[in-house]
Amino acid sequence: MSITEEIQRLKKEKNAVILAHYYVAPEVQEIADYVGDSFYLSKAAVDLKERTIVFCGVSFMGESAKILNPNKTVLMPELSADCAMAHMADAETIQRMREEYEDLAVVCYINSTAELKKHSDVCVTSSNAVKIVKALPNRNIFFIPDRNLAHFVAEQVPKKHFVYNEGYCPVHEKMAVHEIQKEKELHPQAEILTHPECPQAVREMSDYIGSTSGIIAYAHKSECQEFIICTETGVRFELERQNPGKRFYFTETEPVCQDMKMITLEKIRDVLKNGENEIHVTKELREGSVRPLERMLELA
Ligand code: 13P
Ligand code: SF4
Repeated sequence: MSITEEIQRLKKEKNAVILAHYYVAPEVQEIADYVGDSFYLSKAAVDLKERTIVFCGVSFMGESAKILNPNKTVLMPELSADCAMAHMADAETIQRMREEYEDLAVVCYINSTAELKKHSDVCVTSSNAVKIVKALPNRNIFFIPDRNLAHFVAEQVPKKHFVYNEGYCPVHEKMAVHEIQKEKELHPQAEILTHPECPQAVREMSDYIGSTSGIIAYAHKSECQEFIICTETGVRFELERQNPGKRFYFTETEPVCQDMKMITLEKIRDVLKNGENEIHVTKELREGSVRPLERMLELA
């Protein structure tokens, strides 16, 4: 029996469903029941009939799925797969901002620990941040942890006053203008599609800025046949699957999230078989962090 057949058999036996982010390896995306960006996956997670969710992604994703579904079992194929940015803010600074600014909303990118969510007013993902910030009644926005996404949202919502936090994604932060320019010289017809976690200089040279789903949807609709993709290389699989005739280029220093790449078919099979790597969230942490997540689902 192949490993894929084994996973399918175990999934049925354990009444389990597999969710995967676009950044995981192609063979993992291929066997998943639902593949998408962070927003799609958090929405999908609340409507599932299966008892067990295997989350192929980094820890904040499994943690959010557990917070939204306390009665389900959430298993992570690799417990140490984490998002560095998720830890780049702190409760003390949030408290300080609340004291300093009246009429403040703490907006927390879903790429964050449950502890940070607990201290926030609403969660957002890269695909709904602009919409949600616009809908908030507050004039002042403290956006954590990502400064690049915060600046991108602030540009779209100029009426609000933003306070920035010094967090960033190490993968997108490294995207270099000169490497993108080099690709553009090699492929002058190509459109540049960029994730908002990239630095401002990269966003400024782009034809489109959006979440992973946004980038995939844009590339599909565009008349253009070639694209320079400024986000993690995992999206290549879906881009090529949807657009067999189009060409996708990445920078020479490939943007790779090593934590996402820790998810393998073997680890998925093993957690299904043994029920290991279950996510647990204390009652106190869940009660504090569920509201910002639910508010996101309502407002988006
Ligand atoms: P998406 O919101 O596009 O899923 O992005 C998540 C992420 O981790 C980007 O680095
Ligand atoms: Fe976190 Fe960046 Fe990896 Fe996304 S690509 S999970 S933001 S480290």
